[in-house]
Amino acid sequence: MSDRRLPFSTHMQRFRYAGPPGRLLAMTTVFVTRAIPGQALSQLAAAGHAIDLWPGELPPPPDALAAHLRAADAALTMVSDRIPPELLPACPKLRVVANMAVGYDNVDPAAAAAAGVWVTNTPGVLADTTADFAFALLLATARQVVASERDTRAGGWKAWSPTAFLGADVYGSTLGVVGMGQIGAAFARRAQGFAMRILYTSRTPKPAVEAETGARWVSLPELLAASDFVSIHTPLTASTRGLISTAELALMRPSAILVNTSRGAVVDQEALVAALRAGTIAGAALDVTEPEPLPLGHPLFMLPNVVVTPHIASAGRATRARMAEIAAANILAVLARKDPPNPVNRPVPPR
Ligand code: DGY
Repeated sequence: MSDRRLPFSTHMQRFRYAGPPGRLLAMTTVFVTRAIPGQALSQLAAAGHAIDLWPGELPPPPDALAAHLRAADAALTMVSDRIPPELLPACPKLRVVANMAVGYDNVDPAAAAAAGVWVTNTPGVLADTTADFAFALLLATARQVVASERDTRAGGWKAWSPTAFLGADVYGSTLGVVGMGQIGAAFARRAQGFAMRILYTSRTPKPAVEAETGARWVSLPELLAASDFVSIHTPLTASTRGLISTAELALMRPSAILVNTSRGAVVDQEALVAALRAGTIAGAALDVTEPEPLPLGHPLFMLPNVVVTPHIASAGRATRARMAEIAAANILAVLARKDPPNPVNRPVPPR
């Protein structure tokens, strides 16, 4: 068993896959689309709800997801569970989709509200953990941590070299933060420790973050042209899809590094590959891609100046447990006919 599965083993023993959907009709059923860490499953069970736990590490395929949602009163879902809007009216008992994530681009909150279904997320709790990881990616790419480690294991370390694995200096450089929400602000705080000059874009200025970090609100073109590192922290919406494409990449410095821990589709990936090949920018660090997982033959994997990780920026042990517990708390509230603590829509009327 791989190390990352160990924390889930207890749950897998206590909560069994419920079998064909519909078997638990007598009780309130919560469909949980993956084994989750922390106390969330115990908390749901302690409140008297039956848990329909999808087995294994892979997401339920679309047909299975639909069948289980049709039989459920509540769903605890992941960002990788795409819920088609037209499915929601066809789930007669479903009252809440509680995403174990701050993002919710896998479900349409307006369509859910129209069907009487709450959608909830897990804000706040993952901002620092995600910012930690985004900074790790920035450092890893700037200082060639991954490339040099691979080379060392392959026997490439022959002597101390004044020219080997030269990277970009992070200390004292200019950082551009695209999207100054909770995660962007946490990232800016970390940049202060590296004496970075911080520029940012967001729909509205954030005076409190400016006062705390010295960040300056600028236009996106100005940010792209002036930054040594550009880190993306926007949610995926109609207006941020493809936000960084050929024209934007062309504005960046040839020495610049792009870091993305938000959603893959915020960056036009074909344009990114072309920019990396052409030397328009120096490198990229991507925790999110389009699609996920990124197919192994993808051109991004062929580029030496790219670091790709498997959407793990929020994967701190305590953070992921807390995310699951917040999702469970949202479900418990809705099933008790209360407003959930973290709604992203408001069904009128709720079911
Ligand atoms: C989120 O919360 O939206 C992340 O992408 C998954 O942690």
